[in-house]
Amino acid sequence: MVHKSCKPDSADLAEYKQHATGQHHHRGKSSESLLDKEAILSALKIGHGQTVLDAGCGNGYMSKEFSRLVGVNGKVYALDPDKISIAALRKETEGTNIVALVGDITTRMPLPASAFNLIYLSTVVHGFVGEQIEGFKVEVKRLLAPDGKLAVVEIVKRDTPFGPPHNIRFSPEELRNALGFASKATVELGEYFYLQIFENR
Ligand SMILES: C[S@@+](CC[C@H](N)C(=O)[O-])C[C@H]1O[C@@H](n2cnc3c(N)ncnc32)[C@H](O)[C@@H]1O
Repeated sequence: MVHKSCKPDSADLAEYKQHATGQHHHRGKSSESLLDKEAILSALKIGHGQTVLDAGCGNGYMSKEFSRLVGVNGKVYALDPDKISIAALRKETEGTNIVALVGDITTRMPLPASAFNLIYLSTVVHGFVGEQIEGFKVEVKRLLAPDGKLAVVEIVKRDTPFGPPHNIRFSPEELRNALGFASKATVELGEYFYLQIFENR
């Protein structure tokens, strides 16, 4: 399945580039204006009443989309180590079905085991170093419901006008090998990104 992404403009690319090279802390937009949200949501098939974890949520723009889709009987946990982003999101989403938490998904989090229908990470995994991948796999395995899905958005491992160094990017195949979950689908998201969906097995 190939979706046409929204075409980022030069301001979007410059902003993402600054973030990816660590020139400023992004607290906010990050990939928001670069990714085709509708293509992602259509591939994720989120249902009413589901429990979703947006790990490395940044400003939480996808958490808000998930919140709408899971409805009043569902719950979205928005997790990020960045205290300022989480404080802002918590304030903004008070009284909704979004629970904003400061935390690190590569370690054990105070979240219920086997409770998540979906764990979503957008442009987060390439930043994991050393033991973090192993810690991430253990925590995802603990948190996912038996029929739950892990969905990872990453930047392609090709020359792009922005983004992290090639040596820390994952091709879809490298991502599948590194995480070891069963692949359900790989979805191209325009020129620069892809979505890899895994099943819990
Ligand atoms: C490039 S930003 C992407 C933010 C958002 N997912 C998006 O697509 O706009 C990467 C985010 O991952 C967060 N992050 C980094 N390490 C993390 C970890 N170990 N656990 C959870 N989030 C992490 C960062 O604080 C940052 O907000």
